[in-house]
Order: sequence, then C-alpha cells, then structure tokens
Amino acid sequence: MPETLTSQDIVRWTRELNYGTWRFQKNWSPLHVVDAEGCYFIDVDGRRYLDFSAQLMCVNLGHKNPAVIRAIQEQARTLPYIAPGYATGVRVDLSRLLLEVLPRGLSKFFFTTSGTEANEAAFKIARMYTGRTKIIARYRSYHGSTMASIGATGDPRRWPAEPGAKGQGFIFAPEVNCYNCPIKHQYPGCDIACADYLEHMIENENDVAAVLVEPVVGTNGVLVPPPEYMPRLRRICDDRGVLLIADEVMTGWGRTGKWFAMDHWDVQPDIMVTAKGITSAYVPLGLCATTQKIAAHFDDHFFAHGHTYEAHPMTLAPAIAAIHEMQRLGLVDRAVEMGAHLGARLQALRGKHPSVGDVRGLGLFWGVELVKNRTTKQPFNTKADKMAGKPLLVDQIAGAMMKKGVAINSWLSHFVIAPPLIITSEEIDQGVAALDEALAQADAQVV
Ligand SMILES: Cc1ncc(COP(=O)(O)O)c(C=O)c1O
Repeated sequence: MPETLTSQDIVRWTRELNYGTWRFQKNWSPLHVVDAEGCYFIDVDGRRYLDFSAQLMCVNLGHKNPAVIRAIQEQARTLPYIAPGYATGVRVDLSRLLLEVLPRGLSKFFFTTSGTEANEAAFKIARMYTGRTKIIARYRSYHGSTMASIGATGDPRRWPAEPGAKGQGFIFAPEVNCYNCPIKHQYPGCDIACADYLEHMIENENDVAAVLVEPVVGTNGVLVPPPEYMPRLRRICDDRGVLLIADEVMTGWGRTGKWFAMDHWDVQPDIMVTAKGITSAYVPLGLCATTQKIAAHFDDHFFAHGHTYEAHPMTLAPAIAAIHEMQRLGLVDRAVEMGAHLGARLQALRGKHPSVGDVRGLGLFWGVELVKNRTTKQPFNTKADKMAGKPLLVDQIAGAMMKKGVAINSWLSHFVIAPPLIITSEEIDQGVAALDEALAQADAQVV
C-alpha cells in the first residue's frame, strides 16, 4: 500500500526533491493542485481558480477535453512506443492534418517533445542548410531553456546561463515595440526602422543563417508588430538569402485568432517552430516544420539530429484529436470573438487605472503593461530586479488575484492574459474584475 501523504507532505516533498523552475529555490511554496476542468483548476481544499493564462499559455482547449483524453487512451492500447525510424499511421495522419492548418509551404515535419527542442532542431537545420552560423534573435524574446535556445533568448533568463549559453553566433536585434520603442521611434512615422535595422545587422555581421522571431512576442509583453513589419522582414530575409524562423510555440493553435500568428500578415516563414497548444499541453509535443526545398538539402547531407522520443506515438495521437476539436468547436473564430470582448474589457481598465500604461493584444492573447508614470513609461520593476530576487509588484498583484480565485501570468511589469479558447464572456468578466480590483495596489504607487 502506498503511504497516504497529507497535502503538507506533498508540498514539502515537492520542495525538497524537485526544482521549482525559473525562480530562486528559497521560499518556493507550490500550491497543491488536484483537479482541473474547462477553464478552472482546483486545489486540495476544493478552491477553484479561473485559469486566465491557460497555465503557461498552453491549455488552449481548456482542461480535460474528453476527445483528447480518449485519443491518449486509445494510442496507449494500440502502440505506446516505437522508435522514430519506423513508419506509423498516427504520424502520417497528423502530418497530413498539419498540411491543412499550417502556413502554406511548410510540409516537412520533425516532431520533438518541447518547444525548446523544436528550436534546437530549427537552429541546426538553418545552419546546416545555409552553411552559415549566426542567428539574429531579438532582445524581448524567449525561445526555451536548453543551451542553444536560452542562448537565443533575449530576456534576462539567459544571463545566469552565460557564458555557456552564449553558444556560437546568437546575436540580438531591437524588438518591435510600438508602445516603448527601443530605438526611440514612433509608429507610423518610423517607417518600421526596427525591421530595417535587422537588414543593417545582416549586412554587417556576415555569416547570418537566420532571423528568429516570435511573431507576437509572448512572455516578454505580447508585442504585436504593425502590419508592415513581418512582410518587410520577409523581403529583407529573401533579399539577403537569410532564413526566417517563426517561433510560434505560444502564438500558434488559434491563440491570436488565426491558426498561426504569421497568417495575420500572410507571410510564410522558412521554418516554423511550435509546441504547447498542439496538444493543448496534455502531452509534451513540439514541432519543427520546414519547406520541401530546405528538407531536400538533407537528401544527400547527413541530418545530424534526433531523439528517442521523436515522433512518439503517445504525443502524436492527442495532437490529431486536439486539432479536430479546435475545428469542431470553431476555436480560431471563437478566439476572435471572445478576444474582442476581452480586449474591450482590458482597454476599459486603461481608462480607469493610472498604473496601466498600455493594453495590447490579438485574439485571446493580451498584455497589460503597468507603469509608474505614463509620461516616462517607467516600469514598476526591471529585469535587474527580477534577477536580484526583489519582490515584483506584478507578482504581488497576481498573488492578490489568486486569493480571489483568478490565476494570471506576470512578468517584470506586465501581465500576459491568454485564457483557454473555450472561455465564455462571463468567465472573461470574472478575470477582468479580479484584475480591476487588484490594480488599486499599483495605482497607489503611481508617481
Ligand atoms: C515563444 C516560445 N518559444 C519556446 C518556448 C519553449 O517551449 P518549451 O517550454 O515547451 O520548451 C516557449 C515557452 O514558453 C515560448 O513561449
């Protein structure tokens, strides 16, 4: 008989025997969660929490979707594992389905078990294909935690992993941020100077294999580019013979109101990376998709890459079910409809709270940026505060919201709001009301 543990035991053993990710380990005290359903998860005391950021912006179908669970059960009965060198029906079924939903031209697939591994594959493919080394990413970005992906990450999570994570050839460009432009321009008068600066970098760096972008920057602030940005970047990459990699780990799978964010601008990346919503996060699956032209290079060049769990049948079957569920429930359109409601409710907070500097988003993907002062746009906390372990105001506000039964993702001086795509307008109102109430704490510190 297994020992019966109390909830306190479970929290204590979790702390003692496990790492809490992206944090100082001291004072980590995780909530004991026992269940989840729809847009809510439930703790050991039966308290329900509205999942306003879909965990890590990944549970797009909401919790416990029966069709996805059934697919996992059936695949476990049929073929739980086979090495990636074999052909399987499930891999073909998923691959053919991907042709229906992915941006045009992406038709050769490498399956991983996470977003960071999918990025690793993308970097290797880009470098082997072009014979070049450098990858230009942007400062406000996150691309994963393995050594190359964290090396390609612009945000401060890269800092403690250096110098190892410096890797070879990851360099950074200014992000597109029309609220607080890093090169002090103003849209539309800027004529998208931040994109042109990337061209300047490519020209002067030489040896550039690829430009890597989150089409809408995620954790680092839901930065939506103006309409001209992505087509301009595509042209620059084409003119310079550089590949364009779209990291759609967070923005994919209906999140922004299209299947993939790049669809908003009708721009085809050469390589697209995704994960998270591909299975609604029920099982770990990542995808690196390329064109047939790139893939053909490896017909007679050794493809030096692979994993034991690559194209793992248990990860592929639920992806098929998740895509079918998205189609059946019309969740891409729903993200547009519910996103409009969420956006309007959040914009109203800007009118009411002096601490809200900016509200921006696309579909069911929204960022709320807090500032001490609207004129200077000074954030309440900085990257240095985060890395020094100082208490961040946005974390305190998120903590207050948890007490009211709403879970929200916070980072530096903003919130990322990305609920399950099945969310109702009443649930949106519940989440926004909790934020509205908690923002008083920030308003009181405005200078
Ligand atoms: C844009 C982006 N790329 C890559 C990753 C890494 O994905 P994973 O955590 O599955 O390795 C993330 C994770 O949050 C992400 O948001």
